[in-house]
Amino acid sequence: MIKPDTGPSTYEWWKYLAERPSPVRPERLSMAQIRALDTVARRDYGRQRRRWHESILLRTPQVVRANEQLDDLLEANEDAVTRVRAAAAIDAPPSLGKSTTVDAYGLRYHREQIDQLGEYVDDNDDILRIPVCRITLTGDVTIKGLHQQLFEFYAHPARRATTGRVLARDLATMAGDAVRRHETRLIIIDDVHFLRPGTEKGEQVANELKWLANEYPATFLFAGVALKQRGLFSEGRNGEFAALAQTGRRWTLLQLHAFDPLTVIGAPVWRDTLLGIEQRLMLARMRPGTLADTLSDYLYIRSTGVIGSLMQLIRLGAIRAIRTGKETLDTDLLEQVSIDEAAEIARGATAILVNKARRVARS
Ligand SMILES: Nc1ncnc2c1ncn2[C@@H]1O[C@H](COP(=O)(O)OP(=O)(O)O)[C@@H](O)[C@H]1O
Ligand SMILES: [Mg+2]
Repeated sequence: MIKPDTGPSTYEWWKYLAERPSPVRPERLSMAQIRALDTVARRDYGRQRRRWHESILLRTPQVVRANEQLDDLLEANEDAVTRVRAAAAIDAPPSLGKSTTVDAYGLRYHREQIDQLGEYVDDNDDILRIPVCRITLTGDVTIKGLHQQLFEFYAHPARRATTGRVLARDLATMAGDAVRRHETRLIIIDDVHFLRPGTEKGEQVANELKWLANEYPATFLFAGVALKQRGLFSEGRNGEFAALAQTGRRWTLLQLHAFDPLTVIGAPVWRDTLLGIEQRLMLARMRPGTLADTLSDYLYIRSTGVIGSLMQLIRLGAIRAIRTGKETLDTDLLEQVSIDEAAEIARGATAILVNKARRVARS
């Protein structure tokens, strides 16, 4: 399968991501076998493993729950003919896996729809089925910009013709035609926090999104940071996003939280997650329990339970472990790896919490 030369927010790219073969797990080699490789083969083995580690996708309980809720919603919406369709939103702080979760769901949904209904919507194989449309909002989003992105996704001819005076409603209708023509069932809009509450532009785009969610025969899935605090779905006061807020009752709000191994419920989830990562890591000297037992507290302190920081630390650590020939992870090696600033800053406070909890547990 050839990588398309379009940008990532296009159906070609999305289709490629959904339909490319899933990554293959490299063979597990022993230390002796790795040593026996010549330089080229060793570098190649390193690259294969790095790619494999990049592709790790964990089905945490939160991810499973979000998937189930989305399945319910999409099925319910399939039968909604006259009723207003429900929409969903994932609302969580950065790096907790919002984009990963919605994309993984969307890619799976794409494959299912193509398997069930075929690659084309018509009998002549003229019109491609595009079950999922996914766009990401960026700073300073306008109504025109929003539609532009929809057109870009569908490679719609209008993507080059939206200069000059075109009515927003006409743009929305044209984009809607693409949604219907390609039988798109799910529209994912990521980084919705770029809508600024309290600004005229933000309000306009929010209105537009609400209108689209009602108008298009597809389920909308939004993701973003602090959407609730921004008044996107709550009963908006001061007119802040009042339009979206009116639809508050039809929103399914999905949440993602940081891991919390210091609680009774959180501890086994954290442990299972580390065991899951351990099983997928391809390092010759790694033993069962290296992460889940030996490094459990350390990894929590470094990542503060944020999946993005955890995976970054592990992936970078694994790269170093492969390059240096250490072939396992330990605190010495991980200390050399620096990750995102937010995690580094929170590290001290988390360490105090962990030490306190462990002291209490011992006494
Ligand atoms: N379920 C998961 N399995 C593996 N890695 C994940 C998972 N969720 C998130 N990550 C990692 O965390 C990083 C941040 O996740 P992302 O989805 O971009 O967060 P957000 O959109 O909430 O800011 C991703 O690059 C990915 O590597
Ligand atoms: Mg994101």
